[in-house]
Amino acid sequence: MKSRKYHKGFVLCGLCWLTIVNFLAPVCLAKNFEDRLQRVRKILKEVPLIDGHNDLPWNIRKFLKNQLKDFRFGADLREIAPWSTSAWSHTDLKRLKEGMVSAQFWSAYAPCSSQHLDAVQLTLEQIDLIRRLVSIYSRNMTLVTTASGIEASHRAGKLASLIGVEGGHSIGTSLSVLRMFYQLGARYLTLTHTCNTPWADCCKVDEPGKVPHIGGLSNFGTLVVAEMNRLGMIVDLSHVSVPTMLDALATSKAPVIFSHSSAHAICNSSRNVPDHVLKRIAVNRGLVMVAFFPHFIKCSERASLSDVVAHINHIRDVAGIDHVGIGAGYDGVNLVPEGLEDVSKYPYLFAELMKSDRWSDEDIAKLAGKNLIRVFEEVEAVRDQMETQGVPPVDQSIPPEDILGRSYCRYSGPRT
Ligand SMILES: *[C@@H]1O[C@H](CO)[C@@H](O)[C@H](O)[C@H]1NC(C)=O
Ligand SMILES: *[C@@H]1O[C@H](CO)[C@@H](O)[C@H](O)[C@H]1NC(C)=O
Repeated sequence: MKSRKYHKGFVLCGLCWLTIVNFLAPVCLAKNFEDRLQRVRKILKEVPLIDGHNDLPWNIRKFLKNQLKDFRFGADLREIAPWSTSAWSHTDLKRLKEGMVSAQFWSAYAPCSSQHLDAVQLTLEQIDLIRRLVSIYSRNMTLVTTASGIEASHRAGKLASLIGVEGGHSIGTSLSVLRMFYQLGARYLTLTHTCNTPWADCCKVDEPGKVPHIGGLSNFGTLVVAEMNRLGMIVDLSHVSVPTMLDALATSKAPVIFSHSSAHAICNSSRNVPDHVLKRIAVNRGLVMVAFFPHFIKCSERASLSDVVAHINHIRDVAGIDHVGIGAGYDGVNLVPEGLEDVSKYPYLFAELMKSDRWSDEDIAKLAGKNLIRVFEEVEAVRDQMETQGVPPVDQSIPPEDILGRSYCRYSGPRT
């Protein structure tokens, strides 16, 4: 009888244990998760969430030949062909809102195959496309060209839309073109895409068996960086070779960014940033905006949200909390991490980081947007300082002196 009683108690205790494990613990975890998500939402109401790179404009070109009458950005694109069946589509206004994205750098991109051909024209068409998109959706988006504009747009509840030109080949080796891109609203230039330009090496030359073309920036390349400093245009080092990173860091008077790159120490893709450069980024007061592409995160086709967390923590460890941001690269990739499938998912990433006490609300705010705003303000301050000093535009000869013996499809007649 006694043993029977004991047995009953044991069964009860077992039941109670099962109840805790199977029911209460998940409820508890879910509650913690819901609490963290609430904290994230509160922070992102105060501070704009800024993403460094989105390739939607190129998809509009691919799918719709830039005809915006056929583009329903306010609808759920998961339900509209060809977006619904494309592995490259992760972005629409509804999901940006769900993801609490407040500012987006839209990529004005021309492929490397257009270098020395019609790259300048394609880039102009993509800048025009972004501007037209913003104007059609002016109730939901606003074109922003200043750091303070990001904050004003955030307060107005609109998506701040910034333009980044992705690839130095887009300027056609002409500082005049660079200046005009700035006038049209471009606020960063990625010094290369996946091709060397006549003045800067791209990251492919860092890969095994490849040789450098220039070994960093040429003299003209340093002029590009100097002119960007003078204009107040952010130097973007995603896609460039390590020597190009170091030359740009040595040249730039302003902080630089990586608009969509991750940590090389975790995944040795040549698109990622090595630790010694992360340390230089801290000295430069710049920013690495972490890309989500599984090939950069896990050096494989599969990755998860927690793998992205590891990159963010690594960059924080090496460069510091003031030098890490977000540049997912949605719509420019056909693979995404599990848990970060589209632009609606950013809050889950911040909620995951918050599992660690190390991430205060202020730290999350810096990662989400404060760091980029600070960098942008410092870039503007360098511009203002150079203006005060009366630094004139670089008076470039056409064609520039140090382009490396390439054949150009250029108009070669009289130029005045
Ligand atoms: C765009 O803004 C309008 C006006 O505020 C609003 O009614 C609409 O729901 C917004 N669209 C999206 C997709 O957020
Ligand atoms: C990355 O590391 C692997 C293993 O050490 C090596 O085989 C590969 O070539 C490296 N990749 C790059 C891009 O350096």
